[in-house]
Amino acid sequence: MRILITGGAGFLGQRLAAALLQRGELSLDDKTASPVSSIVLSDLQEPPRWHAGLKDNPLVQFGTGDIADGHYVQSLFKDKVHLVFHLASIVSSHGEQDFDLALRVNLDGTRHVFDNARSQNNNTRMVFTSSLAAFGGDHMPSTINDHTKQTATTTYGTTKTIGELLINDYSRKGFLDGRTARLPTVIIRPGKPNKAASSFVSGLFREPLNGEDCVVPVDPAMPMAVLGYRSIVDGIIRLAELPASSLGSERALGLPALNVTVQDLMNAVANAGHGRALGKHIIKYDDNIARIVGSWPQAIDGSRALSLGLPVENQLEDIVEYYIADYLTN
Ligand SMILES: NC(=O)c1ccc[n+]([C@@H]2O[C@H](COP(=O)([O-])OP(=O)(O)OC[C@H]3O[C@@H](n4cnc5c(N)ncnc54)[C@H](O)[C@@H]3O)[C@@H](O)[C@H]2O)c1
Repeated sequence: MRILITGGAGFLGQRLAAALLQRGELSLDDKTASPVSSIVLSDLQEPPRWHAGLKDNPLVQFGTGDIADGHYVQSLFKDKVHLVFHLASIVSSHGEQDFDLALRVNLDGTRHVFDNARSQNNNTRMVFTSSLAAFGGDHMPSTINDHTKQTATTTYGTTKTIGELLINDYSRKGFLDGRTARLPTVIIRPGKPNKAASSFVSGLFREPLNGEDCVVPVDPAMPMAVLGYRSIVDGIIRLAELPASSLGSERALGLPALNVTVQDLMNAVANAGHGRALGKHIIKYDDNIARIVGSWPQAIDGSRALSLGLPVENQLEDIVEYYIADYLTN
């Protein structure tokens, strides 16, 4: 099975590739497992830091290019691709800063990926990553589920909603076999923050665990829906494998989440990071970040995803322990 991951140099793209290699095979539609024969990671540039086991792996190729360039995307489909994880995206704050770029990458680029998959005529399996930012607005309920009306209040969220609708429609037409994984805030991102408004959430863990102080730009009482990166990656793979019949006409699945507050996140660092010299949390409001993050749903009802076997950690402290094991030990 030949797999393409767009946004393949990013945080989740690299972790996804590593997880697929570790599995070695996938069983789409619960049929006989097929071996993972190659993974193409596509991104604007090679990662500044490679995830272990990817760089010199003979099953991994790297393609450098911009998905807003249709010719480049066409070149990614020169050899048959069986499964695509479309992760490349302009993320939330960046999309607010640059509307035209967000539309070029998140809409035009997404259409290039979908249309080139369509032109293969093999009902390519496609997993698109959307976000909680697809919800928002004055009438949003505090807890959302997969039937909640999507009224995004950012350009990023608007482009993700359009991507979700296109996945449904391309699948309905039989152009591809698409699914959308709608992600809550993913923790704990290692290394440097990206331009997502939610980036500070990972910083709440990462910086104190490194012994550095960190700024908390929102009210500690703010509710958040979060999920650890291990569950995110396992959930995305599970969604790729599920038979289409289990999703019906609504191909977007909200991943389950831990519904917590920012204060709970800070407490989890103290609980799981005991024994380490922890940096402090310093509350300093940032109106822009508070506005964007505050416009997202407060909690997720993930019962549909849970019933389909997608995972969620038991508690925040488990995520901190995984992060310490994956990134801070040795
Ligand atoms: N991490 C989260 O909290 C979170 C939450 C909700 C949704 N998501 C979604 O999950 C996906 C992956 O997120 P991530 O955390 O790994 O983000 P990331 O920023 O680490 O990775 C995104 C990648 O897309 C690439 N990219 C951007 N523009 C491109 C272009 N024009 N052509 C090719 N590549 C381009 C970037 O270079 C980057 O490597 C994204 O679609 C994001 O919207 C993430």
